[in-house]
Amino acid sequence: MRIVSSIAEVKDAVAQWRTSGHTVALVPTMGYLHAGHESLMDAARAACGKVVVSVFVNPIQFGPNEDYDSYPRDLDHDAAICETHGVDLIFHPEVQEMYPEGFATYVSADALAETLCGASRPGHFRGVCTVVNKLFNIVQPNMAFFGQKDAQQLAIIKRMVRDLNMNVQVVGCPIVREEDGLAKSSRNTYLSTEERQAALVLSRAVKKGYAAVEAGERNAAKLKQLMSDVLSAEPLARIDYLEVVDGLTMQPIDTINESVLVAMAVYIGNTRLIDNFIFEE
Ligand code: PAF
Repeated sequence: MRIVSSIAEVKDAVAQWRTSGHTVALVPTMGYLHAGHESLMDAARAACGKVVVSVFVNPIQFGPNEDYDSYPRDLDHDAAICETHGVDLIFHPEVQEMYPEGFATYVSADALAETLCGASRPGHFRGVCTVVNKLFNIVQPNMAFFGQKDAQQLAIIKRMVRDLNMNVQVVGCPIVREEDGLAKSSRNTYLSTEERQAALVLSRAVKKGYAAVEAGERNAAKLKQLMSDVLSAEPLARIDYLEVVDGLTMQPIDTINESVLVAMAVYIGNTRLIDNFIFEE
């Protein structure tokens, strides 16, 4: 496994693989890898001849008061994980390599990016779309793998690929949870012991909501009430948003039908966590 930091080195490696007839998978990450990322790597490994993992904490997707500086970073830990999952190359660029002096071109996703996390984090998805677009251009993967935990991100990237006629198949992989239900996230490391326990309220709300929809609840307002009652019962939890949206457009809906995304962001202390479920009829 190679670890490279320059765009030119990635392009060279990929060009050589292409000459030998390999397909290429990309797993874009911000590092501090956990079992959620491992499942993406395994899916990538099973699907393509060569696997690239990018490890880059992308400054332009963080707002001014967000956790860019404190976001956990540990390349040695990430490299060890990638090695055991058969990754061929880690791309770990410096910020200057991705955004040199004079960088001026961005990709944004309009309406899809204005709800849910996009409403709470203005500019976030512009930063995500721009960096993912750059990574796709650098690696030119046949397939790219993203977690369903960031459901809005996944929907936006799929739309970007469709709208901009990009030659990459975007694959969404299921949420990976701790044994007690907490969705895996690099940000879980911010939680104190007490907060870690309180954070279970997100998966409890997901479970309750999913069961209600499965049992026939089709009224979005009633579903939200049911789930927000669960969340409000936890004193350390503060709801950022809890929404029922169309799974493709990310716009709020009143009645649950076809494909629906039920998504939430909840502060546990100062840590903002997200969780969701998708229901398809
Ligand atoms: O999901 C993430 O870790 C990031 O948003 C991504 C896709 C790697 C872009 O920086």
